[in-house]
Amino acid sequence: MDEVTFVILGATGDLTARKIIPAIYHLVERKKIQNFVIVGAARKKKKISTILNASKKFVKKGKDSVWNKLEKHASYVQLDFYNEDHYQNLQDELHRLEHKFKLPGKRIFYLATLSNHFETITHNLKKYDDKKHTKSWPRVVYEKPFGHDLKSAKVLNRHISRLFHQDHIYRIDHYLGKESVENISIVRFTNRVLEPIWNAKHIESVQIIMNESIGIEGRGSFYDKYGAIKDVVQNHMLQLLALVAMEPPKRLFGKYMQDAKVAILKRTYVESVLLGQYNGYTREPGVKKGSKTETFATLKLSLHTKRWKGVPFFFKTGKFLKSKETRIDVKFKEVKCLMLNNCPTDTNFLTIRIQPNEGITLDVHSKVPGEKSKITTVPLDFSQQSVTAPETPEAYETLLGDVIEGNQSTFVRHDEIEASWKITDAIRKGKVYHYRRGSNGPLQLQKWSKRHKIQWRA
Ligand SMILES: NC(=O)c1ccc[n+]([C@@H]2O[C@H](COP(=O)([O-])OP(=O)(O)OC[C@H]3O[C@@H](n4cnc5c(N)ncnc54)[C@H](OP(=O)(O)O)[C@@H]3O)[C@@H](O)[C@H]2O)c1
Repeated sequence: MDEVTFVILGATGDLTARKIIPAIYHLVERKKIQNFVIVGAARKKKKISTILNASKKFVKKGKDSVWNKLEKHASYVQLDFYNEDHYQNLQDELHRLEHKFKLPGKRIFYLATLSNHFETITHNLKKYDDKKHTKSWPRVVYEKPFGHDLKSAKVLNRHISRLFHQDHIYRIDHYLGKESVENISIVRFTNRVLEPIWNAKHIESVQIIMNESIGIEGRGSFYDKYGAIKDVVQNHMLQLLALVAMEPPKRLFGKYMQDAKVAILKRTYVESVLLGQYNGYTREPGVKKGSKTETFATLKLSLHTKRWKGVPFFFKTGKFLKSKETRIDVKFKEVKCLMLNNCPTDTNFLTIRIQPNEGITLDVHSKVPGEKSKITTVPLDFSQQSVTAPETPEAYETLLGDVIEGNQSTFVRHDEIEASWKITDAIRKGKVYHYRRGSNGPLQLQKWSKRHKIQWRA
């Protein structure tokens, strides 16, 4: 890989500590980047050593030698996104370090902050764009959520595309960097046993589940403005749906994948929704008194294409649920029973586990040994760990590697973002039901599920 300058805007934040610095650490440890500098920037007065130290607990078995190297190649600039003079300070610091480490000025600006700052930051980055570096390619990475509705996403897309070329804009949805998510289209389109039956003739329904066992973890002021629909449905869950439901792209990369994903998102509609909020949410720091923000959502969606005619897609997600699990369950239709008795009581399921225990399971029917006509369900199980090295990169490491290589396949294009916001903006939010922490969600879920004939698998 290359020589690169990382600029993290929002360097004192949680995402930087938890994900971005650990990802850079691993790229350096695995020698995937030869030479680099990291410049962190944010409002607080901080030392770069403090910022790096905050990440140590997120790197298992970190080596001192690598941390020392990171510190030697890193620095911090105090910067307010809204103060233009501060961007000049940032430029000066970038120059100093790039000169010191003989770097060509290939800069990755990672906007690790809320999207309401994106317009101003992009404007100022462009204004202070360094034209002296002939070899430089500024690449700008935007965290999710990108905007807070269709209107704001459109304004933002228009604004940033006037300032930077599409090839230099990377909208992150870190789910797309997960091994098991990258694997969805490979499994679908490279196995003859799956693609011919991947349609309404054979599939009864699909459920996409993203259960979390933790709460909002001190992020109240952010979360309260967004809620589950904007925080995870608009991005992660709709991206999973797009990968499961898209028509075969011409090629399994880049523009072709994005074309196929946006086409299916444009034909996706929400039919029904049930919302919930965990007990005690309104007492969380940063949350407005009497807030009606949902921490739980379940949705029924329909896809208006020939392939998916009459096949409902269901989403379920929530904070403080009984289990932590992200999975996709594809339910196949029942087979005609050819036996005199003891017919299979359930259908086949194909389960794609995103986390934990990444992998795929196909439930098939089989004879109970020793019994003439008794049937049981047995799993044909594939665990991702069985084919990957223990050192499989985490999503953020994969994605940063892709930015360095200029690979946009694992990023979300402007029209995908807009199509997703269009789907979620159309949701008419009704009552928000309360639920007990550690439960399966609001009690009303049972009735809702019965009405829509859905039995949740988790
Ligand atoms: N945390 C995660 O695990 C996670 C996961 C996925 C996605 N995300 C997304 O990543 C983004 C950042 O999340 P986060 O959890 O890191 O938020 P955070 O902890 O609140 O961090 C926000 C960062 O922005 C900086 N900032 C805010 N206003 C500023 C200003 N006017 N000038 C300069 N710096 C300013 C803050 O710096 P100061 O505090 O120094 O002012 C801080 O460094 C959000 O969009 C979130 O949805 C986060």
